[in-house]
Amino acid sequence: MKLNIALLPGDGIGPEVIDQAVKSVEAVCRIFGHEVSWHFAYAGACAIDRYGDAFPDVTYQTCLDADAVLFGAVGDPKYDNDPTAKVRPEQGLLAMRKKLGLYANLRPVETFKPLVHMSPLKEELVDGADFLVIRELTGGMYFGEKGRLDGGDTAYDTNIYHRYEIERILRQAFEYAMRRRKHLTVVDKANVLESSRLWRQVAQEMAPTYPEVETDYMFVDNAAMKLITGPKFFDVIVTENTFGDILTDEASVVSGSMGLLASASVGEKTGVYEPIHGSWPQAAGKDIANPLAAILSAAMMFEYAFGLMDEGRAIRKAVADSIENKIVTGDLAASGKAFSTSEVGDWVAERIVSE
Ligand code: IPM
Ligand code: MN
Repeated sequence: MKLNIALLPGDGIGPEVIDQAVKSVEAVCRIFGHEVSWHFAYAGACAIDRYGDAFPDVTYQTCLDADAVLFGAVGDPKYDNDPTAKVRPEQGLLAMRKKLGLYANLRPVETFKPLVHMSPLKEELVDGADFLVIRELTGGMYFGEKGRLDGGDTAYDTNIYHRYEIERILRQAFEYAMRRRKHLTVVDKANVLESSRLWRQVAQEMAPTYPEVETDYMFVDNAAMKLITGPKFFDVIVTENTFGDILTDEASVVSGSMGLLASASVGEKTGVYEPIHGSWPQAAGKDIANPLAAILSAAMMFEYAFGLMDEGRAIRKAVADSIENKIVTGDLAASGKAFSTSEVGDWVAERIVSE
């Protein structure tokens, strides 16, 4: 197969972890006989420096022309403490989500047996946890009308959802539940928020069309607790944009390191595959960041964008082997040797076989 991939490494540790993902993709293509072409583009702070825009048109066009986007991370501290900054790297991420219509953000959380002791949670609680969080990504407070009143002393963000937005994300959630353990948890705050009541209403209307799926409803505060006290309860979680943002950071604790969590954002146009961690500017260029989330994002890309399941599995197997053999970066090394980002990347790429 011919794979056209847009490469948006972004800022901070983005470029160095994406380099490692590229090595694995090239290894897979060599072994399985695919032809890959890369199309580099700028996004985030590096794009602001170059074009004055965090997601410039040329980057958008590169994404549109590709079959998939492999994305690193965006963000730079020089913007964080300046509330007056007119352009920010994060706007690039939001613009990309909106323009590419990436309404479904899939964030799988798994545990790796050799790492369960690394989780701050009790081993018996996390061992075997395996769930998928589906976060709505183009609606809610992130994109609703926002502004200031009273000369700036009053501020508001509108948490608005339309029925079609809820229906399409719930449809994805039911479909993924069908392919997994057929248990869907709809997370909302329907005891307080009108938008949540619409979510719950639509979910209750759709549930009978998926009779095999056991659907339950949970308030977000309760879900936040349950993720920590009993993560094995969950199979598929679906929720709105803001709740999903918060719950997925929380859920990353279950797997032991944020450096392990990959994600896919899919919707109307080209899908984007990215690690869920940020740009970690303090570590940029030091060759210490964990590349496994970026490499696992490449695995998701093979599976979701190209339907190449064996290729995805080959990457996952090599990643699991690296953990098993303790070829890991400092965040996972405990008292053992901390390998560098590129050493881990090389090891994983060399380990990939076709079974
Ligand atoms: C994420 C990030 C982004 C979000 C930020 C960087 C805008 O936290 O992808 O979860 O809030 O969606
Ligand atoms: Mn987040």
